[in-house]
Amino acid sequence: MNTLTITPGRPLRGIITVPGDKSITHRAIILAALADGVGTVQGYCRGEDCLNTMRALQSLGVRIDESVDSLQVHGKGLWGLSESNAPIDCGNSGTGIRLLTGLLAGQDFFTVLTGDDSIRRRPMGRIVKPLREMGATIAGRKGGELAPLAVTGSRLHAITYVSPVASAQIKSSLLLAGLFAEGTTRLTEPMLSRDHTERLFQFYGIRLHREGATLVLEGRPAVGWQAAPQLVVPGDLSAAAFFIVGASIVPGSDITISNVGVNPTRTGLLDVMNRMGADIQLLNRREEAGEPIADIRVKATPLRGVTIGPDLIPQTIDEFPILCVAAAVAEGDTVISGAAELRVKESDRIATMFAELRQMGARMTQKPDGMVIQGSGNSGENGRLHAARGRSYGDHRVAMSLAIAGLTASSDTTIDEAACIETSFPNFDRKLLELLTQFA
Ligand code: S3P
Repeated sequence: MNTLTITPGRPLRGIITVPGDKSITHRAIILAALADGVGTVQGYCRGEDCLNTMRALQSLGVRIDESVDSLQVHGKGLWGLSESNAPIDCGNSGTGIRLLTGLLAGQDFFTVLTGDDSIRRRPMGRIVKPLREMGATIAGRKGGELAPLAVTGSRLHAITYVSPVASAQIKSSLLLAGLFAEGTTRLTEPMLSRDHTERLFQFYGIRLHREGATLVLEGRPAVGWQAAPQLVVPGDLSAAAFFIVGASIVPGSDITISNVGVNPTRTGLLDVMNRMGADIQLLNRREEAGEPIADIRVKATPLRGVTIGPDLIPQTIDEFPILCVAAAVAEGDTVISGAAELRVKESDRIATMFAELRQMGARMTQKPDGMVIQGSGNSGENGRLHAARGRSYGDHRVAMSLAIAGLTASSDTTIDEAACIETSFPNFDRKLLELLTQFA
């Protein structure tokens, strides 16, 4: 599927599920690999990013048996990983490479980690610097700023670290390293980023607690943790986001997405969409492995522009490409600021969404840390954006956002370089078609 064609003109209707949460899947595989005994990860994300993390653990000596909806992980215990005889390829995944670098910094063997073109452009200094403070030996291009990274396992000591960026990847990398470090790791971030690592540590009984804004982790636990007979991964809100916005902006839509994670550190999109006037209901709330879950019902409704400031960025971070689409058809301006992190994602998401949505007739301006989108004010009608030939820049969330934008266009939209959607959402096109035809 290197080109995706979107034909507008029909509402989204029906009940659907989305892939398992990508962030939780990475963490679930890693922690299951370090557990004692055989654990099952149910409902995992089969996107390429997570499969790469699974393959990484396999190359580090962990047996993982795959089926379509679950992974059986034969945990090696905290100190049981062994050297990989080849470089580890994390593909497109920032989470994969950053978490694995933290995990591998305190082992007693050597590892090389790398990834695709996009990964080799993204900043790694943000984890390499604090890991070196812990005693890690890491080499990389530009003094360790860029992958490939060569990690010579070292004896780590705990540090107190105040992260300059609210990033769950930095936090999780350091917590994984902290497990292997001597002493007590203390970690503070400027704002709370997604807390899946903390929740999973607590689920397994790993000694992590919070003192105000600081996370406190005891390193080198004397006893490890038991494998979970069945750890259930909720559906990915960041995948559901495309259908939530799609159903909001295509007149006549009414969908329910079952079994979606609604961890409050991830639900910025829902808060923003509610402020825009969207009709979103969370039904059947429940909890799995310490993560809140709900079914999400969305009906089409006209939207209005809003202001999104720095305080909302961490919990909305992956949803800006699709929020730009909502804003482009809303009534009035949407102003986004404090979001400079968008420039160092799978693509520079401010630049890519600016270039692609402008082509489709959206009125936008870029700022170093955000953008202003002047809504067309017709979110209740069809034909609000122009059909175009768009491209993803290799960024899965850009590709899926343009597909949803295409649903509001006057005629067919084609998206080139759409294969990258596989990194997080295999079968996105089929799921979308299901919603467009369920009650046609
Ligand atoms: C993720 C954290 C976020 C997010 C990424 C997944 C994670 O990145 O954008 O898609 O699983 O920890 P940052 O930590 O760099 O903000």
